[in-house]
Order: sequence, then C-alpha cells, then structure tokens
Amino acid sequence: MKILLLNGPNLNLLGKREPEIYGKRSLQDIIDDLVLVGQSLSCEIEHFQSNSEAALIDKLHTLFAVDNKRVDAIIINPAAFTHTSIALRDAILAVNKPFIEVHLSNVHAREAFRHQSFFSDIAQGVIVGLGEQGYEYALRSLVSSLSRD
Ligand code: DQA
Repeated sequence: MKILLLNGPNLNLLGKREPEIYGKRSLQDIIDDLVLVGQSLSCEIEHFQSNSEAALIDKLHTLFAVDNKRVDAIIINPAAFTHTSIALRDAILAVNKPFIEVHLSNVHAREAFRHQSFFSDIAQGVIVGLGEQGYEYALRSLVSSLSRD
C-alpha cells in the first residue's frame, strides 16, 4: 500500500511559523514520525511539499504515469490553497483517488475566509484542529478503509 502525502504553501515553515497555532515541530519531524507509523502498517509514504500551486498540480499529474499507479490514496493539507484553488481541486478530482483533507488548526474557529474549502465536499474525510496527529489519524483511516476494499 502506498499513500501520497501532499503539503501546501508555508508548511515548510512548521516549527517556526506561528507556533502557537501550528505547533513547534518541523515538517520533517512530523513526516519522520508518520513514515514510522506507515512502516508499522506496511504502508509506504511518499511526501511532497510545495509553495507552488503548479508544482502540487504537476505532482498529482504524475499519478497518471505507469510507475505511480501504485499510489492508493492521498492525504492532503492544501494550506492556503484550501480556500482558493479550484485548479488543485480539479487535479485531485482528475486522479480519482480517495483522499483525506487535514488541517493542523481548527479552521472553523479562525477567520471566516478559512471556513470555505474547495476540497471538503469531495474528500473521504476531513480532519481539522488536531495538530500533527491529524496526519496519523488520516493515515490509519485510509489504511483501514483500503484494507476493507
Ligand atoms: C492550514 C490552515 C490554512 O487556513 C492555512 O492557510 C494554512 C494551514 C492548517 O493546517 O491549519 O497554511 O491548512
């Protein structure tokens, strides 16, 4: 089983960026822990972070390539693109894989512009406000739903 984990803009600054909202751990720390959880579940994780909408879309397009057909599902934190990007929504629809949308912070308890998501209505599930644990819950949920298929 293989999961593609996508993180959007500014998440490369985790640990330094507004730590009272996003926590003190770096993205690399979070990914390292998640890869270990993945190993315990016999699940490979491929991670990609970009500040560029185009790069995230291009990464999704690689799933059409023969060697990427192995990706079974996606975990995505689109960050600010959550609230703006129809193009990223269309790309994730195009690749037609189950995905879970994760946000570290509780976007619904924040500014009104963060309440709107272009992903939630097409996601298998949405996890908000649980910090980095949200990624682990998403991973466990996808692995268990894929194992049932
Ligand atoms: C975020 C919430 C978004 O509103 C924000 O733009 C982010 C991070 C989160 O994980 O809480 O960059 O996706």
